[in-house]
Amino acid sequence: MSLLEAATKVRENAYAPYSRFKVGAALRAASGAVYTGVNVENVAYPEGTCAEAGAIAAMCAAGERQIAEIVVIADSPEPVPCCGGCRQKIAEFAAPEVRVTMATLDGKTRSVTVAELLPGVFRAAHMDRA
Ligand code: THU
Repeated sequence: MSLLEAATKVRENAYAPYSRFKVGAALRAASGAVYTGVNVENVAYPEGTCAEAGAIAAMCAAGERQIAEIVVIADSPEPVPCCGGCRQKIAEFAAPEVRVTMATLDGKTRSVTVAELLPGVFRAAHMDRA
């Protein structure tokens, strides 16, 4: 199953009763294993946690730390850009050249690198003098 297929399939399990906007994410880690995630909302913080964060959490829980590729999908008119927080979370675990593909249910895709997704990223090296 491709990452796009995995993200599309897992999206059905999103818990988004407040926004009604279901998002699915699938990433391939360095080992080749695929980890998936969905957005999970709650009444106190309706934005909840993003699908990308869910997939990253699943990867970390399995003991992996390196994203090789990630796909995000939602039913939107245009591929939905990852939110700011997710850009930083993806950059934590992915090299600058790693592909991030955003997709719509009707087949539109937009593919960028992590460097394009988050230019000027804050990295641990910026704290080297601390
Ligand atoms: N959302 C994601 O899961 N990923 C994104 O990249 C954009 C937004 C979710 C969070 C919230 O549950 C809903 O979409 C509306 O913001």
